[in-house]
Amino acid sequence: MATLTLRKGDAGSLICLLAAKWSKIAPEVAYGDKLLLELEDGTIHFQSTPIAKFLSQKKGSAFQMIPKKAGDELDSIMIFAEKMMASPELVPAFLAAIEGKFMGEFLLGEFCLADVVVFALVKTFTPDLSAHPTLTAWYTTVLEMVKDDVAAFDKPAKEVYEMSPNAETPVYITTPIYYVNGEPHIGHVYTTLLADIATRYYKMKGTAGAYLLTGNDEHGQKVQQTAEAKGMTPKAMCDEISETFKDCFKVFNLQYDRFIRTTDDDHIHAAQTLWKKLADAGLIYKGEHDGWYCVSDETFVPDSSLGIRTLPDGTEERYSLESGHPCIAIKEVNYMFKLSEYGDRLAEYYEANPDVIVPEFRRKEIIKFLRGGLKDLSLSRPMSRISWAVPVPGDEEHGMYVWIDALTNYLTGAGYPDKLDTNKLWPATMHVLGKDIARFHCVYWPAFLLGAGLELPHKLVVHGWWTKDGMKISKSLGNAFDPYEAATRYGLDPLRFFLCRESNSSIDGDFSHNAMVDRLNIDLANDLGNLVNRVVSTALNPGRVVPAAGDVPEAEELIAALNALPGTVDHHMGEVNIQGALVAIWEVIGQTNAFIQDAEPWKLKAADQQARKEAIMYVATEAVRIVGTLLLPVMPETMARLLNEQLNVPAELMRVDLLKFAQLESGRALGDNTDILFDKLVDRQAAIRAGLVINDKVDDTSTCRRKAIAAEQVACKHYIYRKREKGLVNIEGTLDLTVTASECKVVLSISGNRTKKEEPSRFENLSVDGGLVVELNEEYPEGAAVAPKKAKKAAKQEGPSKKELKRQARAARKAKEAALAEEMAKVDVEEKKE
Ligand code: MSP
Repeated sequence: MATLTLRKGDAGSLICLLAAKWSKIAPEVAYGDKLLLELEDGTIHFQSTPIAKFLSQKKGSAFQMIPKKAGDELDSIMIFAEKMMASPELVPAFLAAIEGKFMGEFLLGEFCLADVVVFALVKTFTPDLSAHPTLTAWYTTVLEMVKDDVAAFDKPAKEVYEMSPNAETPVYITTPIYYVNGEPHIGHVYTTLLADIATRYYKMKGTAGAYLLTGNDEHGQKVQQTAEAKGMTPKAMCDEISETFKDCFKVFNLQYDRFIRTTDDDHIHAAQTLWKKLADAGLIYKGEHDGWYCVSDETFVPDSSLGIRTLPDGTEERYSLESGHPCIAIKEVNYMFKLSEYGDRLAEYYEANPDVIVPEFRRKEIIKFLRGGLKDLSLSRPMSRISWAVPVPGDEEHGMYVWIDALTNYLTGAGYPDKLDTNKLWPATMHVLGKDIARFHCVYWPAFLLGAGLELPHKLVVHGWWTKDGMKISKSLGNAFDPYEAATRYGLDPLRFFLCRESNSSIDGDFSHNAMVDRLNIDLANDLGNLVNRVVSTALNPGRVVPAAGDVPEAEELIAALNALPGTVDHHMGEVNIQGALVAIWEVIGQTNAFIQDAEPWKLKAADQQARKEAIMYVATEAVRIVGTLLLPVMPETMARLLNEQLNVPAELMRVDLLKFAQLESGRALGDNTDILFDKLVDRQAAIRAGLVINDKVDDTSTCRRKAIAAEQVACKHYIYRKREKGLVNIEGTLDLTVTASECKVVLSISGNRTKKEEPSRFENLSVDGGLVVELNEEYPEGAAVAPKKAKKAAKQEGPSKKELKRQARAARKAKEAALAEEMAKVDVEEKKE
């Protein structure tokens, strides 16, 4: 069975999976998320589709209409494709058939399922497209759109990673230091969480240990202004706010070895020493900085936040997009750093060392930026304007501009200048940071280090941002989500798990209640929680000791997976790819659950079956210990409870580098605690989504869950398909889903206008995956039916025209490109602080 994590409703991903499956490439592809679909060969029913219809209607077609059975357009494409797989000789006819009109029809509007499947087929069967010009053009377009998917498919099926050797010096991990101009928020928690998990992991590996540095970035104009407005000194305000950060980190169980503050004496000494080094090397000179200054806001406004408006007298005025206040062009004397000397040098370095910046696309962005040429960098501001700054050594008139001060904190934490060699923390093993500050860390910071003759950090891990319900989190949208509230509501460890499972360094994570509850109920309570419960409860282990090990031939594959898991997790940890580690761990959890399900130890009651039952439960117990140990950094409190209080694992086994199957001694007493690890969040909708509602009661058998998910998929797809169908306008739909032990029933109610010509519903009594019944209640209000022509016209008027759709698609593509470009250009040197 191949499993794939898909974005909910992302049929394209499913098709891609199939393509991967057919072409025997990487059957396990981890995608964006949210819905786990388990595909078993031969379990899905199909019906006709536009492709099949088109092909079958062609004169002398080699294709037959697939009989209407059940399912939706997606399913039908799948059966069509599977047919093709079975009869590859049909492929040339297929390609010839789609060349021309058909493709045009499909490509006018949005990027649709058919595109993906055809793409997959083309990729699989016809690498040479030269005989098909339309197809070639289309293929190029689609290829561009799905290039990330393709890249994922091109990866080898499954890599086996050896555990990396233990470091000889402590693993030194840092977070950015956080501004003190606001309360800690989810972004701060998230970055620190990633670093905390990596540090905890390395503390469980080998003897050299690990060291985590986090803290606050306290200098700058905004801090000075906010403190003045509050009638406080900047230092007093920083003292107060840094305490709120420390409290916050305590609440989230974020452990650090030092909480650095840029007002710390040793840091001021370090920043000034680094400055002197750069000045002595001839890399700092006095120059003129010119830019747009906003007098009312007392700040330079970067180009990206600058607007131009025409005044009543016809002249143009620059103004701050943020405050609306006018700006004037001014020049001031600053100390400048010869950054321009480092562009090619750093680009070459990142080209020669492709592992330094993670993820890969950020590395490419940075190289492109470096190759574009660098300008010298302003490093100071006049103290007359910003007095809350580290003084420039030898020139009290100037204060250090935040980035040289702030970035130096990583060196201070390592003992620079006096204890740098003895502490053995430099070069840093990894800096963890958000994408907003990638350029500072990947361009300016290494340039400073090279200038001062210091070694470069080994790794720069750049992560995405958090959004809420699909929207950017921002104060003006009022959709910031409170991490404290989330932790109280869902539990701290489930929240830590969620934040890592739902995001990685390539994508932004999205927080939604539904997604959170699904992760809690499905991944934690069901998959992991039930497995643990089987191992620790008296039902299958009445003696409550580690069961006797024995021979279980069918466990061979699982045992191999358990032994390979620490290497895989270690590989992902090396890139702070916690999501990758979790996906790998859950794969093995799923494998263990399937193993128990198949072995059915609960049926082994006879005396002569006890040895086998124990041997099965030994495998399960070891699986729980191994995954529990690997999960300790992510969910420290819950996993410590599991390992110490429930499994009673000896302390010396809690080493990730030594982790392997069959280390627990049979007969050793388990702990007394048999509590449920994760409470399910019984929110009716969530329970339904998770397939936990049986006869209106919450139940959690995994079969029902799977059915429910499948049913919901089917029903949702029908609804969407329906909505798009010609002649149906203004449809509203509701979905009600119930699951019984033998049946999963989905009632989809649709109301709205319909044409008289509407075919009888194809959604009645759908049977999916055996025993699954999908019903459709369609209600059309009296008099709402409209004649076909009218309906068409109405549809035309109601919905956007094809032209408009095309325009929208173009605009969306452009916006996406612009957003990408903006991301790189977004944070100009001055933007964040001034
Ligand atoms: N002080 C600078 C960093 C100097 S490091 C030498 C700074 N501080 S910050 O308070 O703005 O925090 C920046 C970090 O917070 C980001 O790089 C990112 O790690 C994190 N996040 C802030 N908002 C975020 C989200 N919405 N989502 C995820 N993380 C984000 O920049």
